[in-house]
Amino acid sequence: MIRKQLLYPFVAGILLLGIFYLLGRPEHYDVLVIGAGAAGLSAALEAEAEGASVLVIEKMPTIGGNTMRATGGMNAAESAVQEKLGIEDSTRAHLKDTLNAGHRKSNPVLAGILVDQAKEAVHRLRALGADLEDVGYLAGHSAPRTHRPTGGAPVGTEIIRVLKDSLKARDIPIRLETRIIGLIRKGETVRGALVRDKTGREYRIFSTALVLAIGGYGGSPRTFVRYDPALAGFNTTNHPGATGDYIPLAEKIGARLLDMEQIQAHPTVEPDHGILITEALRGNGGILVDLIGRRFTDELAFRDVLSAKILERRGGLAFLIFDENVRRSLSASEDYIHRRLVVSANTPRELAQKLGIDPPLFSAELETYNTVHRSGKADPFGRSGLSIPLETPPYYGIKVSPGVHYCMGGLAIDEKTRVLRDSDGKPIPGLYAAGEATGGIHGKNRLGGNSLADAVIFGRIAGKEAAKR
Ligand code: FUM
Repeated sequence: MIRKQLLYPFVAGILLLGIFYLLGRPEHYDVLVIGAGAAGLSAALEAEAEGASVLVIEKMPTIGGNTMRATGGMNAAESAVQEKLGIEDSTRAHLKDTLNAGHRKSNPVLAGILVDQAKEAVHRLRALGADLEDVGYLAGHSAPRTHRPTGGAPVGTEIIRVLKDSLKARDIPIRLETRIIGLIRKGETVRGALVRDKTGREYRIFSTALVLAIGGYGGSPRTFVRYDPALAGFNTTNHPGATGDYIPLAEKIGARLLDMEQIQAHPTVEPDHGILITEALRGNGGILVDLIGRRFTDELAFRDVLSAKILERRGGLAFLIFDENVRRSLSASEDYIHRRLVVSANTPRELAQKLGIDPPLFSAELETYNTVHRSGKADPFGRSGLSIPLETPPYYGIKVSPGVHYCMGGLAIDEKTRVLRDSDGKPIPGLYAAGEATGGIHGKNRLGGNSLADAVIFGRIAGKEAAKR
């Protein structure tokens, strides 16, 4: 028999045990990674390779984040693939293009790390089994350096596929539908996260180091318009989970946020469905005409410049035009055809009729373009990159308009990806960040193909540094 004076402590003990059982024991990992896109998965792999215990949490029901939508490719200069293909390039030229695209507002140290480590990042992904054997142009590049799967298939799914397989092979857990709602701190030091699962249950996960690889805010019109009101009404290419969840966390602990108003509009987004039409289509030869059928720009100008040019045209719209040659060079275009975003025709005149643009004007415009590029003369709009005649039927056209694509702003980090305090610029102990959640690398405008390089490279640095801690 339990004596009466022991009864209350006994019952309280049983209740506490019950609560403990129901809520689960507090978990602890060496490294807790928030977000399962390319940055988060790369961080997790690297941290585990350093001997750390790792958990990845992801708020969406599937992994991949915006990386899953990445199409055009991943940049690297002086890569083994470029060498194999006989492409001359240098990290110096890559840096120059990156800084010029960002209007010289990038953090040069971080941009330098990106270009220096890109070839190793591509090499590592290939060693994990990624097909990155095709190399092409994107806008603003002085050489073809954007790596993608053979035949020009979308790059993001390929990268996520190999990263996911590698995490699986190493038994690194990914907990889906689990979102961060707060940071656990002891003094200034970040010691883990308060999270919420899909049932609404809230619990704490402790860690020695936490990596925010949580993406940007391009999927939340309310948030991007808050930072740049001129973007009201814009479509977005982002996945719906890109809602800037790091912003309230950063504000609460006094982390520095940089360049939040620097949001990139991708020039070619199909306006009715918000689908990204990859820059690689222009990089491989596609051109742009306005709603009358006239060319109006260098199609490979920096994204901000080109988006502004399209927005100046009637309706803020243009048509992206390509031919069968270009289609065959880039299998990513099959998806646009499959989704019925593409109008096709056997002659330029017929294509113009179907698109509702002026047939004689468009035919003449295309003929002039082809004559110039057949003869190797200078393009009247100073088109940079690959310029080839479009003369192989069928001809194709897609309606495009600029749409929100990438957030250049985000958490301020140092070269070890440590998140910096706003008050004094010093690192916040225990907190790291990588990928689109960070700011400063791309200045005022990101060079196409640099986001995957950024995610993989800084994800790896974050994983390594977090594990060291
Ligand atoms: O157009 C694209 O394929 C986008 C590439 C990028 O944003 O890096």
